[in-house]
Amino acid sequence: MPKISRRTLLKSAAVVGAYGAGVGLAGRFGMAKAAAHPITLEAVKRDAVIVGNEATHSVLTYESAGLNVGPMPPLLRLTRGEPFAAQLKNSIDEPTTIHWHGLRIPNAMDGVPFLTQPYVYTGDTFDYAFTPPDAGTFWYHPHCNTLTQMGHGMTGVLVVEDPDDPVFDAEIVLNLRDWRLGGDGQFIAQFKPRDAAKSGTYGTVRTANWAVEPTHDAPAGGLVRLRLAVTDVTRIYTLKLVGADALIMAIDGQPLPVGEPLDTAVISPGQRLDLIIRMPDDEGAIVKLEDIRPSTPKVVANFRAVGTSLKRNLGDAPTFRPNAPVEADFSTATAIPLVLSATAENAAKESFCGSLGYSFWAINKVPWPGDSDDPTAPLAELKLGQTYLLNMENVTPHAHPIHLHGMNFQVVSSSNGPVAPLVSDTYLIMPDEKVQLALVADNLGDWVFHCHIIEHQKTGMTGYFRVI
Ligand code: C2O
Ligand code: CU
Repeated sequence: MPKISRRTLLKSAAVVGAYGAGVGLAGRFGMAKAAAHPITLEAVKRDAVIVGNEATHSVLTYESAGLNVGPMPPLLRLTRGEPFAAQLKNSIDEPTTIHWHGLRIPNAMDGVPFLTQPYVYTGDTFDYAFTPPDAGTFWYHPHCNTLTQMGHGMTGVLVVEDPDDPVFDAEIVLNLRDWRLGGDGQFIAQFKPRDAAKSGTYGTVRTANWAVEPTHDAPAGGLVRLRLAVTDVTRIYTLKLVGADALIMAIDGQPLPVGEPLDTAVISPGQRLDLIIRMPDDEGAIVKLEDIRPSTPKVVANFRAVGTSLKRNLGDAPTFRPNAPVEADFSTATAIPLVLSATAENAAKESFCGSLGYSFWAINKVPWPGDSDDPTAPLAELKLGQTYLLNMENVTPHAHPIHLHGMNFQVVSSSNGPVAPLVSDTYLIMPDEKVQLALVADNLGDWVFHCHIIEHQKTGMTGYFRVI
């Protein structure tokens, strides 16, 4: 069980009070209209077949009556600008919450225990309600005892549709993740401390939609929209498509101005990718999505052409309506230095929401939670509406997918060469890279900023910004 100091609890209670129903919900997007069809997401423990024929025990997932079938957390479809409501019901034997990764929603709905909401204890419920302002591919997961809960299954994909989204011949959504299973198909230790201090502990079984190397049918000669979300706790993919051409249409939910031909794409934990694939004309032809990061390429998923060719042209693929840009005012921007480093290996300090028992990583030399007299102080206080430049530097020999809650940033420059002015919530910073990210502090509250390699997050590479 997580340890919580009285001090932290009291402080958190105050924060929840300040940003609770009032300020948070009123937020930037106006008072929430009620959703027409609230859903229930029940956190449950189940047996599920992941690999082979033997059921894996103690799989953790979400169930929602009438939504999807099968053991995987349901694919949620929301509509941009339309209120959405989900009641989390906790039927697992430890506290949990839901974080809506990449959605710019009020702080009180962000799902971070003690920072934005109380724990949802076993048997309790919590009502999430918000209106997604951006369309695209997103995902959801707990923010509590995260390595176990996500590692055991609680990662789901969330699509926000735009009523004006172009229609393609098919759409396939893939939830990419691994599992730490032994030869008997049962969970093994979720991490090894030695690996947590490096690039993280990899899974032993790779899946797409909880299946090993699945094959999906798609219309021959058709244009297929493929939405990918890397919900794994560790693995960075270098994806390549074999047997078809494709365009990258959106990265991390944010449409590119024009589709870019896919050669390879690096996509790290927390990130999403939207592709348009031009399926082959021949019935039965197989397109392979491969991860070429390991020395031997691994098949992630297959797509099989079915029917007579629709004879589409990849060049005709319509682009997507953009989401709101980051309207940075560089003339008044304040710089915030953020140095990502390793830290002296230490027993972790008492923290809320579970601890892996170690600290290996730090932001600005402070492994979360800090050891100052204010161990849970924010990295910086940001003024509502102001522009900030996050000057981030990675002085470690490992890549870190750094994720910011509640707001988007724009990539401004990198020491690794020219950058596209991408807007995102997750940036994969390479070893020795220096990057500049512009951010407009336009959402009130406490927003977590952490590495999405969960072992890094949970052994120190975490902090948050307070927007006041
Ligand atoms: Cu995907 Cu702090 O989360
Ligand atoms: Cu990291």
